[in-house]
Amino acid sequence: MVLDRLRLEGKVALVTGSGRGLGRAMAEALAEAGADLLVTARSEREIKGTEASIRALGRKAVAVPCDVTDKASIDKMVDVGLRELGRIDILVNNAGTAIIKPLLELKEEEWHRTLDTNLTSMFLCCKAVGPVMIRQGGGTIINMTSVLGARGRTGSVAYACSKGGVIQLTRTLAIEWAPYNIRVNAIGPGAFYTRPMKFVLDDPKLGEIRRKKIPLKREGQPDELGPLVVYLASPASGYMTGQIIYVDGGELAKL
Ligand SMILES: NC(=O)c1ccc[n+]([C@@H]2O[C@H](COP(=O)([O-])OP(=O)(O)OC[C@H]3O[C@@H](n4cnc5c(N)ncnc54)[C@H](OP(=O)(O)O)[C@@H]3O)[C@@H](O)[C@H]2O)c1
Repeated sequence: MVLDRLRLEGKVALVTGSGRGLGRAMAEALAEAGADLLVTARSEREIKGTEASIRALGRKAVAVPCDVTDKASIDKMVDVGLRELGRIDILVNNAGTAIIKPLLELKEEEWHRTLDTNLTSMFLCCKAVGPVMIRQGGGTIINMTSVLGARGRTGSVAYACSKGGVIQLTRTLAIEWAPYNIRVNAIGPGAFYTRPMKFVLDDPKLGEIRRKKIPLKREGQPDELGPLVVYLASPASGYMTGQIIYVDGGELAKL
């Protein structure tokens, strides 16, 4: 049956940045589809919250704090996850940050922090988890990019460069790791209602300007990414790799 191909029972998923926002919503969706979860971010309080909500769904969950800009921290988190959950089949590289400033005001440290958090982190997580998937005979990787990986916007130079890099990391790794039965795809959200976007979307004037640019005239809600991440993580998307799927209310379709 077609819906059986979306089932994730017996699989273990690692979602970075899963203490809140899109990462938490995707972790919960993967758990609803049957996966056990390795939950990670820097804030222990937030990841414990996600761990509790996943356990309430009847799945195993282990929360391990980790800074994805730090290789030693990633390696330790993966080791603890493997010890507790035994395997990793799905990696969702979601942790990210956005510093919105024009280039002339952007400090060198802010440029590096953005690239380290949004792009180098994915390189490091793939290096840590790839060998595990290869040993297991395959896996799926889902990277979070953005509509700003494909388009420019004033004040977004570091963020847009990092997300453009995520697109090329996705395509390149999809080719490199296809022989190992590891599929690599990316999700490119438009405007979603999470902490970094609330100040824009909750402001009557800024919110109206932002929504006017979106053909569907509204922002996305975090749980609207759930079905897509389950699809990309599951055998339902078994012939799909190297693809970038935008979920943006039609924004990128516009000139
Ligand atoms: N919301 C949108 O409209 C939108 C649009 C396009 C793309 N995205 C992308 O979607 C992803 C999630 O965004 P979001 O809106 O859900 O943001 P968010 O609510 O700020 O969540 C970001 C998550 O990443 C974690 N994180 C940040 N820096 C980290 C680090 N150095 N090490 C480990 N974890 C770290 C945060 O936890 P800690 O701070 O506790 O570490 C948090 O759990 C990001 O990659 C973002 O660029 C979002």
